[in-house]
Amino acid sequence: MSLDLRRYLDCAATTPVAPEVQAEIQRVEREAWANPSSLHGFGLAAAEQLERSRDQIASLLGCSGQVVFTSGGSESIHLALLGSIGAIADQQGTPPRLLLSAVEHPASEAAALQLQRLGWTVERIPVDCGGLIDLGALGSLLTRPTQLVSLIWGQSEVGALQPIQEIGALCRSAGVLLHVDAVQVAAQRPIAFDALPIDLMSVASHKLSGPRGIAALLVRDGVQLQAIQAGGGQERGLRSGTEPVALIAGFAAALERLHALRFRGEADPMTELRDRLLSALLQEPGLQLTGPDPRLDPEQRLANHISLIVRAADGRPLPGRAIVRAMARSGFAISSGSACSSSRSAGSLVLKAMGFGLKDCASGIRLTLGDWHSDADLQDVPEALRRAITAVTAA
Ligand SMILES: Cc1ncc(COP(=O)(O)O)c(C=O)c1O
Repeated sequence: MSLDLRRYLDCAATTPVAPEVQAEIQRVEREAWANPSSLHGFGLAAAEQLERSRDQIASLLGCSGQVVFTSGGSESIHLALLGSIGAIADQQGTPPRLLLSAVEHPASEAAALQLQRLGWTVERIPVDCGGLIDLGALGSLLTRPTQLVSLIWGQSEVGALQPIQEIGALCRSAGVLLHVDAVQVAAQRPIAFDALPIDLMSVASHKLSGPRGIAALLVRDGVQLQAIQAGGGQERGLRSGTEPVALIAGFAAALERLHALRFRGEADPMTELRDRLLSALLQEPGLQLTGPDPRLDPEQRLANHISLIVRAADGRPLPGRAIVRAMARSGFAISSGSACSSSRSAGSLVLKAMGFGLKDCASGIRLTLGDWHSDADLQDVPEALRRAITAVTAA
C-alpha cells in the first residue's frame, strides 16, 4: 500500500522534515559542513553557521540563556536531571529529593532512576482524571529536601497541558529548580522561555517538522549545570561531541517555518481543525475522550492532539494496538498510547495514573495532526475507525 501523508496522524511520534527545511539542511551540508571547532576557514564557516542557528533558535524560543544542543529530547532530559546535580545546594547529609508527575515520559523516569541510584529520593505528584497534576500535592512537597522538579508540560499520550506558569511560580517561591519537558509543546504553541518561571527546558526538532537527531536544552542564566558526557568540551563544556551544524540549521529553519505558519496570526488554525475532528469522532458510540476536553478549555490540551479509549458496542474495551493495525490496513497511521511505549502490550501507565481501570488501560489510541492537514483529509477518519472497531470486535 502506498503511504499517503494526508493519512499520517501520528505527529506526536515524529513529523516529516518540511521541504524548505530539507533545502536548508542541504545548503548547510554544502557550504558549512566542516567541524566548527577547526581553526581554518572551513571550520570558521561552520562555526559562524552554528552560532547563527543558535541565535535564531534562542530568539524564536525567547531564551537569553544558554541553548545546549543534544541528540534528542531524551538526551536533553538526562542532561537536565543528571546535570543539575551541579546546581544543587548541599543539605548536610540529607539526600536531595526530585519531584516528577505520575505521567512523565519514560526518558524522565529513566533519568530519575539514575538519580535514585545516586542516593536521591524520588516522589511522584498525582494527577486527576484528565492528567493534570494536583497543585496542592506539589505545593506540600516543595519543602526540604526537594531540590528539583521535572514535569512534562504537554503530555504526549493524553495531550494534557500542565499549568506551567502556576507550577513555576510555586517552585520559584520555594527556591526549587524546575525542568520542563516541552518536547511536545514546542511544536504546538509559541514559547517565551525568559518570561516563564522555568530554569531548564527540553525541546526537540523532530516533533516540529525538523530533522531527527537534534534537540536542545535551554538553560537559564545562573543555573550551574554539569556535563554528563565529557570529551572535546563543545557546547561550553556541557555536551561534548562535534556539533551537527546542518541538523542544527534544519532545527532553526523548522522553528522559523512553524512561527510563520501557525504562531504569527491571532488563532492557531490547528485547534479548530482538531476540534471538528474530535466532535465527529465523539459521535461514534465506542469512543471516549481521554485527557482534557479542549472544547471546554483549549489551554488544557495540546493543539493537535486527540486521545481516545476504544470500546465494542457491548462496552467491552478493545485492544488499542489491534485498532492501530486495523487503521493501518485502511492506510491511516495512528498510535496506541505513546510511540515510545507502543511496542509494549502492557496497558498504559499514564491512563492508570489517571484512574482508568486495568482493562481500559490497553484500549487507548492517539491521533495527532500535522500542519498540512485539512478537513478534507480527515473526513474519512470516523468511518475508518468505525470499520476498525467492527473488525477488531469480530476478530
Ligand atoms: C513529551 C516527550 N518527552 C520526551 C520525548 C523523547 O524525545 P526523543 O524521542 O527526541 O528522545 C518525547 C518523544 O516522544 C516526548 O513526546
